[in-house]
Order: sequence, then C-alpha cells, then structure tokens
Amino acid sequence: MREAAASTTSELRAEVASAVPRHVAVIMDGNGRWAESKGLARTEGHRQGEATLAEVVRAADGLGIGWFTAYGFSTENWSRPPTEVNFILGLHKNIFARRLEMHRNNVRIRCIGRPVSGTSRLPRRILREMEESVELTKANTGLTFTLAFDYGAREELLYATRKLLEAHRREGTEIDERSFARCLYDPEMPPVDLLVRTSGEQRLSNFLLWQSVGAPFYVTPTYWPDFGGAELEAAITWWRRSPGAPASNT
Ligand code: FPP
Repeated sequence: MREAAASTTSELRAEVASAVPRHVAVIMDGNGRWAESKGLARTEGHRQGEATLAEVVRAADGLGIGWFTAYGFSTENWSRPPTEVNFILGLHKNIFARRLEMHRNNVRIRCIGRPVSGTSRLPRRILREMEESVELTKANTGLTFTLAFDYGAREELLYATRKLLEAHRREGTEIDERSFARCLYDPEMPPVDLLVRTSGEQRLSNFLLWQSVGAPFYVTPTYWPDFGGAELEAAITWWRRSPGAPASNT
C-alpha cells in the first residue's frame, strides 16, 4: 500500500514537473532601452524584438504550450512619433512573412484587436498579410500564436458589450459571463495561465483584462530583445510554484 502511494506521488511530481501553462501571454517591453543601452537607435531594439518574438514562439511550441499571445501593437502605441510607428508596423510585416515556417510547424496564427471589429487604422497591406496568415494556418492543430495587433483591452470589452447587447435585443441572449466571453475578439481564447512582462515594470498596460483575471504575473528585468527560450522556461518553472498552478496542488 505504502509503495503504491509513494509511486503515485512520484508519478504526480513528474507530471507536475513536466506541466506547462496552457496559455502564456507576453508584454514585450524594453526594446527602446535595450537599444539605448547599446548606443543604438530605438528602431534597432524593435528589429531585434521581432526576431526574439519569432524565437520565443518556436520555444513555446517546443515546450508544448497550447496558446501563446504577444502584445505587438497597442491602441496607445499610435501616439508614438510617426517614424517609430511606421517602423514597428513594418516589422509586423516581417512576423507575418514567417507564416510559411510557422505553417510547416503546424502553428495556427490568429489576431486580436481592432482588425477583428473592422475599425483598424492599420495600412491595408498589413491587414492583408494578417488575413493571409490567419487563413493559411487556420486548420493547424499545434500552438495557437495570437498577435494582439492595434489592440486595447478596454476597446475589446466595449466591443463585446455592444455585441452581447445586440444579441440580447435580437435573440434574448442571457447576459452572463459565459455569453460575454463568447463576444470577445477571440471567443475560443482560453484564460491566461501565465502573464509575462519584460523590462521590470509591473503594469498590465490595457492588455487582456478579461482573460488575465487570475493569471500569475512574471515580471523580469530582462529587456525583451534579450528574452529567449531559456527565460521562457525559467518563467514556467516559476509558474509551477505559484498559487493556482498544478505544483501548488501537490
Ligand atoms: C516595447 O518597447 C514594445 C513595443 C512598442 C511593442 C512590441 C514591438 C516589438 C516587439 C517589435 C516588433 C514586434 C512585432 C510583433 C513585429 P518600448 O519601445 O516601449 O521599449 P522602452 O520601454 O524601453 O522604450
């Protein structure tokens, strides 16, 4: 009896040690400071940030994470100088240009943000790249990589509220948490299990307010361009020990 119990416990521990969060979301901050610390233009930080994002998506996929969401461009980012905005938007084209590699790896690309509500101020060519990436990969069954793109959580909540009120008026849809969640930009997106922010600041910055309500918040001083697969693994190790994660139930 005791042996059986011991083996069950160690099996459980092994299971917990290999557990990964189902949904990891990242606020990629510190591109500008990374560049300035090296005497480079801020745009170089964004360029390296895009390459880091591609690397971290690969790492998340390799770790068996189901959903990975990155804050690529916020509704607030439009207030930056136009040259910086244009540079960042150009980099979004780069990430979508990586869609063939992602497709080969069975990654499903999705976007959340104003493009979903049809109110985006993004250039038409970028929206087209985005639509093509989503379309190409929509039947894939591996990691779902979501780019929050011209995204703000308050706008998402308003969008969902309007949609739900409309359904309520038309079909008498019940107004509750479940029906509200079905009206968000991506109704299939599961709750965030681990939220990561780089470069040390402890702010949510209008990101995934509804979805992150119970998520442990891993804040690292590392600037986003220096983040990588190894630090993603460190964040997951930290998550395993945080309240609400599987390790805390043993
Ligand atoms: C913060 O850096 C990051 C952003 C403005 C948005 C994220 C953009 C990237 C990672 C670049 C490319 C991304 C994609 C998806 C192609 P910051 O400029 O606020 O850094 P700072 O706080 O040090 O100034």
